[in-house]
Amino acid sequence: MARPPESGVDGVPKGFVRAPARVTVAVPMKTSLSTGVVFEARKLRKVYHTGEVEVVALNGVDLELGAGELVCLLGPSGSGKSTLLNILGGLDVPSSGSLQYKGWPLVGSDERTLTQFRRNCVGFVFQFYNLIPSLTARENVALITGISRDPMPPEEALEVVGLGRRMDHFPSQLSGGEQQRVAIARAIAKRPEVLLCDEPTGALDVTTGITVLEAIERTNRELGTLTVVITHNAAMADMADRVLHLSDGRIAREEHNETRLAASHLKW
Ligand SMILES: Nc1ncnc2c1ncn2[C@@H]1O[C@H](COP(=O)(O)OP(=O)(O)O)[C@@H](O)[C@H]1O
Ligand SMILES: [Mg+2]
Repeated sequence: MARPPESGVDGVPKGFVRAPARVTVAVPMKTSLSTGVVFEARKLRKVYHTGEVEVVALNGVDLELGAGELVCLLGPSGSGKSTLLNILGGLDVPSSGSLQYKGWPLVGSDERTLTQFRRNCVGFVFQFYNLIPSLTARENVALITGISRDPMPPEEALEVVGLGRRMDHFPSQLSGGEQQRVAIARAIAKRPEVLLCDEPTGALDVTTGITVLEAIERTNRELGTLTVVITHNAAMADMADRVLHLSDGRIAREEHNETRLAASHLKW
């Protein structure tokens, strides 16, 4: 087993905190995959017990996710996609199996370490945007940058998602797609190593959904963030480096795309 990284600030293992040197938006974009392994999961199982009933949500998932990849998780409802994403992001813990983040075991970490992991290393985007209605786009993003170690200015994050001109608008003055892009800006402003998106276009029509996917694609390309996107929509698979098909709590199939289709060219 890997030696635990030495303790850093706040008792957080050093390996948990992304190296400070990150490409900024202005730097030429990264196009090829980096080979560093970010997550390594072995035999992940998750069993939920509700009363007498036992539901096996994950049933032996083996997985490696590399730095900078854009990965699409596809599968029918109930196949375990959200469970897997939540475990990767430290929002839930598996019943058994192992999970390492950059060689550091997440399973078995104490709550404080997991909190630091979520706060510093992971950005989440969900189907519903969860913006604070009384705050502008800029203020919604600033809430998060205020508690981060090395954030980008809220304005820069909003530029990445194409909302540079809407920063002072309130959520009610923005379309659903624009609100979701604010949620993406909020997730990436702390410069997370990992961006986890659970059905980010689930509540949007096709055209609006594509603007959201373009924002996700741009984040992945320009910031080099390992990005995992759950979707029901098979057409989205063409924009990913890798597609993992979940079925009954297992990865039933995996595809690699030689080239990625630009989100703007997706059709469904
Ligand atoms: N908190 C929970 N308690 C009980 N069962 C759950 C819970 N979360 C998910 N499940 C069950 O686990 C299975 C996988 O769920 P989920 O990961 O949400 O699937 P997906 O995101 O692919 O639709 C489903 O059968 C679901 O009902
Ligand atoms: Mg789900």
